[in-house]
Amino acid sequence: MKNSKLPPNEKVNQLQDHTTDNNDQKLTTNQGLKINNNQDSLKADERGPSLLEDFILREKITHFDHERIPERIVHARGSGAHGVFKMTKSLEKYTKAKFLQEVGKETPVFVRFSTVAGSSGSTDLARDVRGFAIKFYTEEGNYDLVGNNIPVFFIQDAMKFPDLIHAVKPEPDNAIPQAASAHDTFWDFISLMPESMHMIMWAMSDRAIPRSLRMMEGFGVHTFKFINCEGTVHFVKFHFKPKLGVHSVAWDEATKISGKDSDFHRRDLWEAIENGAFPEWEFGVQLIPEEDEHKFDFDLLDPTKLIPEEEVPVEIVGTLTLNRNPDNFFAETEQIAFHPGHLVPGIDFTNDPLLQGRLFSYTDTQLSRLGSPNFHEIPINRSINTVHNNQRDGHMRQQIVKGKVSYEPNSIGGGCPFQAMMKDGGFSTHNERVDGQKIRARSQSFVDHYSQAKLFYNSQSGPEKQHLQNALIFELSKVTIPAIRERVVGQLAFINKDLAAVVAKKVGVKVTHLDQPNGSIPADADPK
Ligand code: HEM
Repeated sequence: MKNSKLPPNEKVNQLQDHTTDNNDQKLTTNQGLKINNNQDSLKADERGPSLLEDFILREKITHFDHERIPERIVHARGSGAHGVFKMTKSLEKYTKAKFLQEVGKETPVFVRFSTVAGSSGSTDLARDVRGFAIKFYTEEGNYDLVGNNIPVFFIQDAMKFPDLIHAVKPEPDNAIPQAASAHDTFWDFISLMPESMHMIMWAMSDRAIPRSLRMMEGFGVHTFKFINCEGTVHFVKFHFKPKLGVHSVAWDEATKISGKDSDFHRRDLWEAIENGAFPEWEFGVQLIPEEDEHKFDFDLLDPTKLIPEEEVPVEIVGTLTLNRNPDNFFAETEQIAFHPGHLVPGIDFTNDPLLQGRLFSYTDTQLSRLGSPNFHEIPINRSINTVHNNQRDGHMRQQIVKGKVSYEPNSIGGGCPFQAMMKDGGFSTHNERVDGQKIRARSQSFVDHYSQAKLFYNSQSGPEKQHLQNALIFELSKVTIPAIRERVVGQLAFINKDLAAVVAKKVGVKVTHLDQPNGSIPADADPK
């Protein structure tokens, strides 16, 4: 199926204005000058030196020399597609976000899936978390849901993110290993970070080697807030459930596929969409009234915890369908810039200390990755509603804003935009009372690191448990420092003593906590 046959949407129409078709066109320079010889440089005589004045050669080579931009510091390897988000049940009762109001309402989206640790040329089938990032081009501006395929995260506080990533990325001395996880530094860090154990259970499970990007779940991970027209707040967790079901490959299959076709997921997504087998997800929410914030035995602000669906069922309210491949990988999939702080009225973030750090990180990194404060003007990043503000200039400015005035207040007029009242769709941060000591600390409500890890392990079927054990044995057998293996096994003993015993035996270490009742934490437990 050719992209041109698909129903356009507002975003795709907007992109058309920036799209060029080179078919049957004459070759030109960047200045539009037609070129009549694209084979030979300009020389002093046929066998003489090339001339500096050859502006055509210089332009061609200069542009080529600057083709690469920095890859994303994390999630460098990705694949994306356009699609549509459609509401099947109104969320009006909970949020005033316009794109979530009416049944049948369609919103254009661009989705980018990714692995986390590998470089942009790494294999799709690495054992790793997958990014699941969605840009909703709403009438009120872009809303980004920058999530993963696993509902929890390794760490509780943004302060630890650079450490986590330095531990998981190739080691600085030899840049090995290029794929995720199986090495000393990663397991060293994990062994010293008990808060990572819940996520480790997911990352060592089959969830971390999906069969297809079309067959994995998506999660917002953090708890967010919905605010309705009356100002009533609900906490919300976001879910995407693939209509094809959740499927994984076994580790043996993953290694074989990686050897034969490291683009396996990218190809699968592309071909499915080209062939009209559009991937679909149900979109669901878990909603918690504001007054129930503290009724759970974990903290809603702790990103290493999920809300069990038995306690708060997921309500399905929409569908996400990917129906159009990008026309140009670099222009769309590479240049798209997501940010968890791209919000619309009716949605707000919470004080989750991991999310709070993310709110700083994305724009900051994109300034160097995309090279200019005007990266919001790159076609894939533009909102479908027009942008009006007093920002000006900067590298590669595209917009030509008319008028004499670019400050406010002013008495001259001359094209200055005015702030919007809430009734006119102006975004207003949800008022929240905050008082207390300024303090660099972790909340006591974040200290239980093992209950949900146990829940996850116990929820696995026999073969799934076996796969998880095998993954841990494989990974830890690659760790060269016995003390690290021992510490990880010590952590596993807090989750399941049988799991710890099997792993310990296979990787040749002793477990110290095996005499404790299954998974309980000894009073003097000190992972260090
Ligand atoms: C990408 C930082 C936690 C999901 C990125 C990028 C940075 C970053 C710098 C590269 C962005 C770019 O170059 O455009 C952080 C920090 C975190 C954090 C500082 C914690 C403090 C998370 C968590 C999730 C997540 C918890 C999932 C809920 C993603 C995804 C991408 C990404 C999906 C790729 C977006 C794309 O496809 O372009 N993150 N991240 N990150 N992050 Fe995070």
